[in-house]
Amino acid sequence: MSPPPHAVQSQADPVSVWTRRSLLGLQELSAAEIRSLLFTARGFSDVSTRSIKKVPALRGRVVANLFFEDSTRTRLSFTLAAQRLSADVVELTETGSSVSKGETVADTARNVVAMGVDALVVRHKAAGAALVAARAVDCAVINAGDGKHEHPTQGLLDIYTLVDTRLKRAGGVDPRLEAFDLTGLKVAIVGDIVSSRVARSNIAGLTRLGAEVVVVGPPTLAPRSLESLGCRVEHELDGVLGAVDAVNMLRIQFERHSGGAGGGGGGEATKGSPAFPSLREYKQAFALTRERLTRLKEGAVVMHPGPMNRGIEIDGEVADSPQSVIFRQVEHGLSVRMAALYLCVGALGSRGG
Ligand code: CP
Repeated sequence: MSPPPHAVQSQADPVSVWTRRSLLGLQELSAAEIRSLLFTARGFSDVSTRSIKKVPALRGRVVANLFFEDSTRTRLSFTLAAQRLSADVVELTETGSSVSKGETVADTARNVVAMGVDALVVRHKAAGAALVAARAVDCAVINAGDGKHEHPTQGLLDIYTLVDTRLKRAGGVDPRLEAFDLTGLKVAIVGDIVSSRVARSNIAGLTRLGAEVVVVGPPTLAPRSLESLGCRVEHELDGVLGAVDAVNMLRIQFERHSGGAGGGGGGEATKGSPAFPSLREYKQAFALTRERLTRLKEGAVVMHPGPMNRGIEIDGEVADSPQSVIFRQVEHGLSVRMAALYLCVGALGSRGG
């Protein structure tokens, strides 16, 4: 497979490093594979700024979005990413499909692929759902978030944002593959770590590229056992803020807490959880408030994968502050997802998966 038309070339060929037909998680990837995805994403990053936002890389291919759990950012950006690569896109959600009648993930995947689809993008509330789909079919499968397990493209776009910020401050684009390195960078991930697939993918990818990761939350949401993932665990945010280069704030996933009083409908402020005594106490200890923002070291950035609950884990003013890179994360999601589709579908086509 040839590199993306506008990729900056390096001595190492980033495309030949990638031989997988599926992207299921960052925990299973090498540093070279992660760099290959990020490098390819950078090659696609200018497509969204053109008057005609398309390249022919996947012309004639078909991507199916199978979203069995709600999504705004991931679903729309996979759709746009596939369209920008000139692929056709079909969409399936639980509501309105035969999943609501009890059809399994594996059978759904087999039926969709029987119609000539080249890639499945799978989001599901169950950990391992994308792996089940990948075992059932012989096309590319990309995990768009499976339960509490992994959200690899979110981890990649977060890492891309950190690298991009670092390189721009250092004077611009470094054309080398090796520029995708985070040695010396310190990142705090704060909040409901135990429920978070975003945290798991971030910890794996960041540490693979040399960053130090500290996760912060109450012991119920950030248990010491998480250190087995290669990060440090802290239970006090104020002691960490001045020492990190980035702070990634996570939503409390009430819907994944057993016994909580969670539920939908925008009533976050009234929700409860068995994981902490009250939302007021949680916010006092772990919310990124305007006051806490002043304790960050100069140049540190504020991140959030979305959806944000303004006024709970993050103040609205903090989310909209100059230190916030939250909407840059969303922007980078497009080129990262173009890269994931391009590499996985291309690997299948040219190397037999
Ligand atoms: N960050 C993220 O996965 O957002 P969505 O649930 O809106 O896709």
